[in-house]
Amino acid sequence: MSSLIKTNASGELGVQVLPLPLTQSTTQSTPRKNRWPARLDVLQSATGFALAVFLMAHMFFVSTILISHQAFYSVARFFEGAYFLGKPYPILVSGVVAVILALFIGHAALAMRKFPAGYRQFSAFRLHKNRFQHGDTSLWWIQVLTGFALFFMTTVHLYDMLTQPALIGPFESADRVWTGNMWPLYLGLLFAVELHGGIGLYRLAIKWGWLEGHNPRQSRRRLAIVRHSISAFFITLGLVTLLAYVDLGRAHADHAGERYTPPQSLSSIDRH
Ligand code: HEM
Repeated sequence: MSSLIKTNASGELGVQVLPLPLTQSTTQSTPRKNRWPARLDVLQSATGFALAVFLMAHMFFVSTILISHQAFYSVARFFEGAYFLGKPYPILVSGVVAVILALFIGHAALAMRKFPAGYRQFSAFRLHKNRFQHGDTSLWWIQVLTGFALFFMTTVHLYDMLTQPALIGPFESADRVWTGNMWPLYLGLLFAVELHGGIGLYRLAIKWGWLEGHNPRQSRRRLAIVRHSISAFFITLGLVTLLAYVDLGRAHADHAGERYTPPQSLSSIDRH
């Protein structure tokens, strides 16, 4: 069974291509190289990288609730263009969400090419993974599992943001998290996306030779430390932030649905 599978340098599962029988047409002309697999690979890396960078920025924006209600309110209105267009336009947020959604769907579709197709490939991979006992091959498997979970969880969140962009604010978000029961989804999403993103960046670095030193073993070890640090930092930041929304949501539960209005002295923009 193991002759059915082959892995590349980064531990990905591929199916061995059986040689074609030599016919007149295959022997006469040299077949042109198909560049599409390489192009799709670059596209998958690029969409993954863009999503990872977006997510890091997103976690910082969302965590401004830890500074103050007003800080998060200002960030939300900023993305609605309130400070340069005179009034907030939530449709701008929907536009950004649509771009992120397109990147997400594109990335997921490209990643699906590498999922095991059917039980036969799956058990061949499992056998190979257990025999091989290589950490990076197991990492690939964690990415398949977290990626699969992200299909469902991210879509719910993005649909919410796409259709209710105006309901982003300290009370609005806290009410959604607590009274709207979104916190279990955010908790799962946080762990899945931070693991997936951390492993994804690590694999990108190995695949494209970023931060490569003279000693490959040492480079891998150094990259693994960076990966663990990034995941740990964003999971901690995410948990503390989520706790702040839960806390605020519980305190605001009796007034759920009431929107935050900034103190008069700070209110220079019209919300409607
Ligand atoms: C443009 C797209 C996005 C927007 C506008 C957005 C906005 C927000 C906002 C405002 C919150 C605070 C809670 C709330 O209001 O419900 C939040 C929380 C969260 N978002 Fe997003 N989000 C976007 C994309 C994503 C993506 C792609 C992911 C992951 C795949 C993600 C993961 C999370 C997580 C895990 C939380 C919980 C926060 C925490 O634990 O600190 N978001 N998002």
